Amino acid sequence: MLCPRPVVRREVAISTEEYPEHAYHENHAALVEQYRSEADLLAPFVTESSRAVLDHIHAHPGFPGASDPPMLALMALLLKLMKPIRVLQIGTLIGYSAIVIADILRQNGRGALITVDPDHHSHGQAHAFCEEAGLTELITFCTDYSTGEQTKLVMEAAGQMDFVYLDASHAYVPTLEELDLLLQPGGWVADDGILLLHDASTLARDYDPTGEGGVRRAIDDWLEVNPKLAHHLVLERPLWPSPPGVGLFRRRVTSS
Ligand SMILES: C[S@@+](CC[C@H](N)C(=O)[O-])C[C@H]1O[C@@H](n2cnc3c(N)ncnc32)[C@H](O)[C@@H]1O
Repeated sequence: MLCPRPVVRREVAISTEEYPEHAYHENHAALVEQYRSEADLLAPFVTESSRAVLDHIHAHPGFPGASDPPMLALMALLLKLMKPIRVLQIGTLIGYSAIVIADILRQNGRGALITVDPDHHSHGQAHAFCEEAGLTELITFCTDYSTGEQTKLVMEAAGQMDFVYLDASHAYVPTLEELDLLLQPGGWVADDGILLLHDASTLARDYDPTGEGGVRRAIDDWLEVNPKLAHHLVLERPLWPSPPGVGLFRRRVTSS
């Protein structure tokens, strides 16, 4: 399953020699141009060898849906600052953001990533790209839904997470369930851990394939029911450059 995300449509010219026929269509090409034009954002954080693999991913038909460079750069900065040990990603797709995360953990000299996605085909491809980047030793691929039994077992064994990146269904109901799993007392995010969400903007309500208001409505409704459980910040236009926006949560510990 690919995750649709609106892209800025522009006239672009990309060599079909560089991009195999099967990977070439207008939206894909525009997206690659956009990501390449913003590639400098990742340069201070991600090693050159991993950035070369990200560039290979651009040509893959499964690439559209990867997190945007401003989002990844913010995440990269937080990963460098926090140096988390236990990191969870929900929504792997074909491994674009997994490579960014694992590359920084390797640079940090500590930390490991669990990444969850129910799509076997995407996970197989993600594994291959992460292998190309030499990062698989740092990554556990859990092929299941965030709410699935296998994920539950993996998370019980792993303990609470220092850092979580949620970029999965874009849909209201699953996101609400994930916020509970992550942030209710005893949930997957540690007391001093950080939860980062993609697609938190008002505009991103339209990305919900069920038409129910997506990640943003889930955030708003969850906070209304649980006003004392977490500190939060939503960055969106005009204060944040990319349309999907970013949400940032930290558990509100009673003694703080
Ligand atoms: C937006 S893409 C993730 C992009 C990825 N973060 C990247 O930058 O490459 C969303 C992914 O979430 C997965 N997904 C959808 N629903 C999910 C769920 N309930 N639990 C875990 N993953 C889910 C989809 O299969 C898809 O691969």
